[in-house]
Amino acid sequence: MNKKVAVIGAGNVGATCAMYLAEANIADIVLVDIAEGIPQGKGLDLTQAGPVRGYNAMVNGTNDFKDIEGANIIIVTAGMPRKPGMSREDLLTANADITKSVAENIKKYAPDSFVVMVANPLDLMTYHMQKITGFPTNRVFGQAGVLDSIRFRAFIAMELNIAMTDTQAMVLGGHGDTMVPIPRYTTVAGIPISELISAERIKAICERTAAGGGEIVKLLKTGSAYYAPAAASVDMCKAVFNDEKKLLPASAHLTGQYGIDDIYIGVPIVLGAGGVEKIIELTLEDGELKALQGSAATYKKHLSELGY
Ligand code: LAC
Repeated sequence: MNKKVAVIGAGNVGATCAMYLAEANIADIVLVDIAEGIPQGKGLDLTQAGPVRGYNAMVNGTNDFKDIEGANIIIVTAGMPRKPGMSREDLLTANADITKSVAENIKKYAPDSFVVMVANPLDLMTYHMQKITGFPTNRVFGQAGVLDSIRFRAFIAMELNIAMTDTQAMVLGGHGDTMVPIPRYTTVAGIPISELISAERIKAICERTAAGGGEIVKLLKTGSAYYAPAAASVDMCKAVFNDEKKLLPASAHLTGQYGIDDIYIGVPIVLGAGGVEKIIELTLEDGELKALQGSAATYKKHLSELGY
């Protein structure tokens, strides 16, 4: 394959990203982790599934960051997952150090790559990654809006017993308790959900979406979700490789849009071969805008804890 994706972190999210990437047949994969044997074992195992799963991608597991050389896209999953009762922001200090060391290696070995951040707290780690690599902001973005909006879509499909693929949803704000699902911009085959679902049920679905990651942490007890986070990350890689110009919510660097400056937060973007090619400024109602700005304000505070 002439394209290469490096997945940093061979835990559940990283290994599942490698699996979905291989099945998408779009690139060879390098799976990097500091734990000896784990990335090598998972890489070999995934490569051996190729003949029956119908892919030709090689999954090369390694402990050596040098092997990310030549990667077009880096998906960064390395970091601690939440335990029940923790907020994503509780992971700030531990994961900031991990992100720093990953960012230094990316800067050294893959200076022209795109970086898809997945580690939590997502919006803060994306900012940290961009600052340390010094990459242009169009090349560093965070995955979570895609994850939050596919959760929203799945809940709508479950509510209506309707095709998942006919749903479209928009979620703005940070990937945390302050995220802002926007039912006004959420449809089924173009029909606003307010035509199909009662206001009371929409409110409940929005609340379930915002707490969607925590619901899974509570069920799993030993870690956080990985199938949907990995699927969302791979969808973003495809958008870049195929220059899809896909409009999706993602954590992007704002420079005054929505009255928010110098922070990474979830907004609608156009994702293509140039990475974040455009940030879309939706017309928001007062309450929606306040919620988005309120979400940004909490992240500004956390950034100062990181020394920014
Ligand atoms: C979630 C975690 C991974 O939302 O942030 O599932």
